[in-house]
Amino acid sequence: MHHPVLEFVQGGQIVSLPNVPPTHTLLQLLREDLGQTATKEGCNEGDCGACTVVLGERQGDHLQYSAVNACIRLAHSVRGMALWTAQDLAAVDGTPHPVQQALLHHHASQCGFCTPGFAMSLFGLYQTQVLQGQPVSRELAQQTLSGNLCRCTGYRPILDAAQQLASLPLVPLDETEILSKLQLITQTGQGMEADLSYKSPKTLNELLTLRAANPKAQLVAGCTDVGLWVNKLHMDFPVVLDLSKVAELRTISQDANTLTIGAAVTLTDAFAALLAERPQLHSFVNRFAGLPVRNSGTLGGNVANGSPIGDSMPLLIALHARVVLASVRGSRELALDALYTGYRQNVMASDEVLTHQGAAPDRQ
Ligand SMILES: Cc1cc2nc3c(=O)[nH]c(=O)nc-3n(C[C@H](O)[C@H](O)[C@H](O)COP(=O)(O)OP(=O)(O)OC[C@H]3O[C@@H](n4cnc5c(N)ncnc54)[C@H](O)[C@@H]3O)c2cc1C
Ligand code: FES
Ligand code: FES
Repeated sequence: MHHPVLEFVQGGQIVSLPNVPPTHTLLQLLREDLGQTATKEGCNEGDCGACTVVLGERQGDHLQYSAVNACIRLAHSVRGMALWTAQDLAAVDGTPHPVQQALLHHHASQCGFCTPGFAMSLFGLYQTQVLQGQPVSRELAQQTLSGNLCRCTGYRPILDAAQQLASLPLVPLDETEILSKLQLITQTGQGMEADLSYKSPKTLNELLTLRAANPKAQLVAGCTDVGLWVNKLHMDFPVVLDLSKVAELRTISQDANTLTIGAAVTLTDAFAALLAERPQLHSFVNRFAGLPVRNSGTLGGNVANGSPIGDSMPLLIALHARVVLASVRGSRELALDALYTGYRQNVMASDEVLTHQGAAPDRQ
């Protein structure tokens, strides 16, 4: 097996790294391989947010930004994306980014260990809301920072800093420049070579072929469960099959009878679709992990993992959700409650993947 070259854009430059093992996390890559210690390690399990970074992924002519936990994100999963850490915020001449100015102004840091993570969650808010002219309410600030813990400052000054962002002069990114760099990476696609240790197919056909040929490869989507097996149970997988880039699994569709959510759709996007149908799920959605976990994790991963403490299954079963399983042999659809056969056991064959889950829209 050989490791594919990992390429992403950081600080306006293409970073190109050979020899990154498949279970190397993004945090290990940043701190240990690249010596970028601005991003901190606290819990190493997605809870504290000290390791928060922002990813930018091409969506049409724009970038879609999301704050994620670098500690439970596999490094290879950011191939073809733009990455920002706390060291990438200030301008080249050292002028602090508005996020940094606001934190400074409100004295929102004491020991400072959590601060890079808070700054990056705020940078995610800045890119997705503030630059679009959206006001930052207290509730939005709280939701934005729901994946960041601080043991000394207290949250009031940090929330005040978040709310100040909209009143500072805007500092947009040069997206055109970043998109042109990303184009150079994505033109060189990650092929189907049999001996690659990290496989990241872009189509469902490729995924199913790879799954059939590599039944022992560790399948991952957002890696918010698998990341803990790597960090805390010290599991090492020689081959990883990442389904998060499969185009057919990243779609949400709705017809008169069914809301269908692809297995690679993030929890953030899946919940937004469910909420549009059922606003009464507001508190359910906002209590499921914190924002950085929801930005990486998928609904498909929650369902396929089938943990007895998983939160989405009781809801989906109550909604009479159905799931689709597929392999090179074909696909089958079944009721979600027929997927599980026992404690963490299900009917999925070794060559099958879960491709979609669907529920009837609310007709009340
Ligand atoms: C800090 C933190 C807080 C969390 N809070 C919650 C919470 O409040 N509620 C809750 O329910 N969960 C929670 N989780 C657990 C986790 O975020 C969810 O279970 C998430 O939905 C997993 O999705 P994923 O894409 O990250 O799965 P992954 O980690 O990528 O995969 C999980 C398992 O599912 C399998 N799998 C993934 N996708 C497929 C597929 N399409 N077909 C077949 N198999 C597949 C993988 O092989 C693996 O075995 C939390 C996790 C963390 C780290
Ligand atoms: S180090 Fe705590 S969330 Fe990553
Ligand atoms: S400032 Fe010390 S943990 Fe937040």
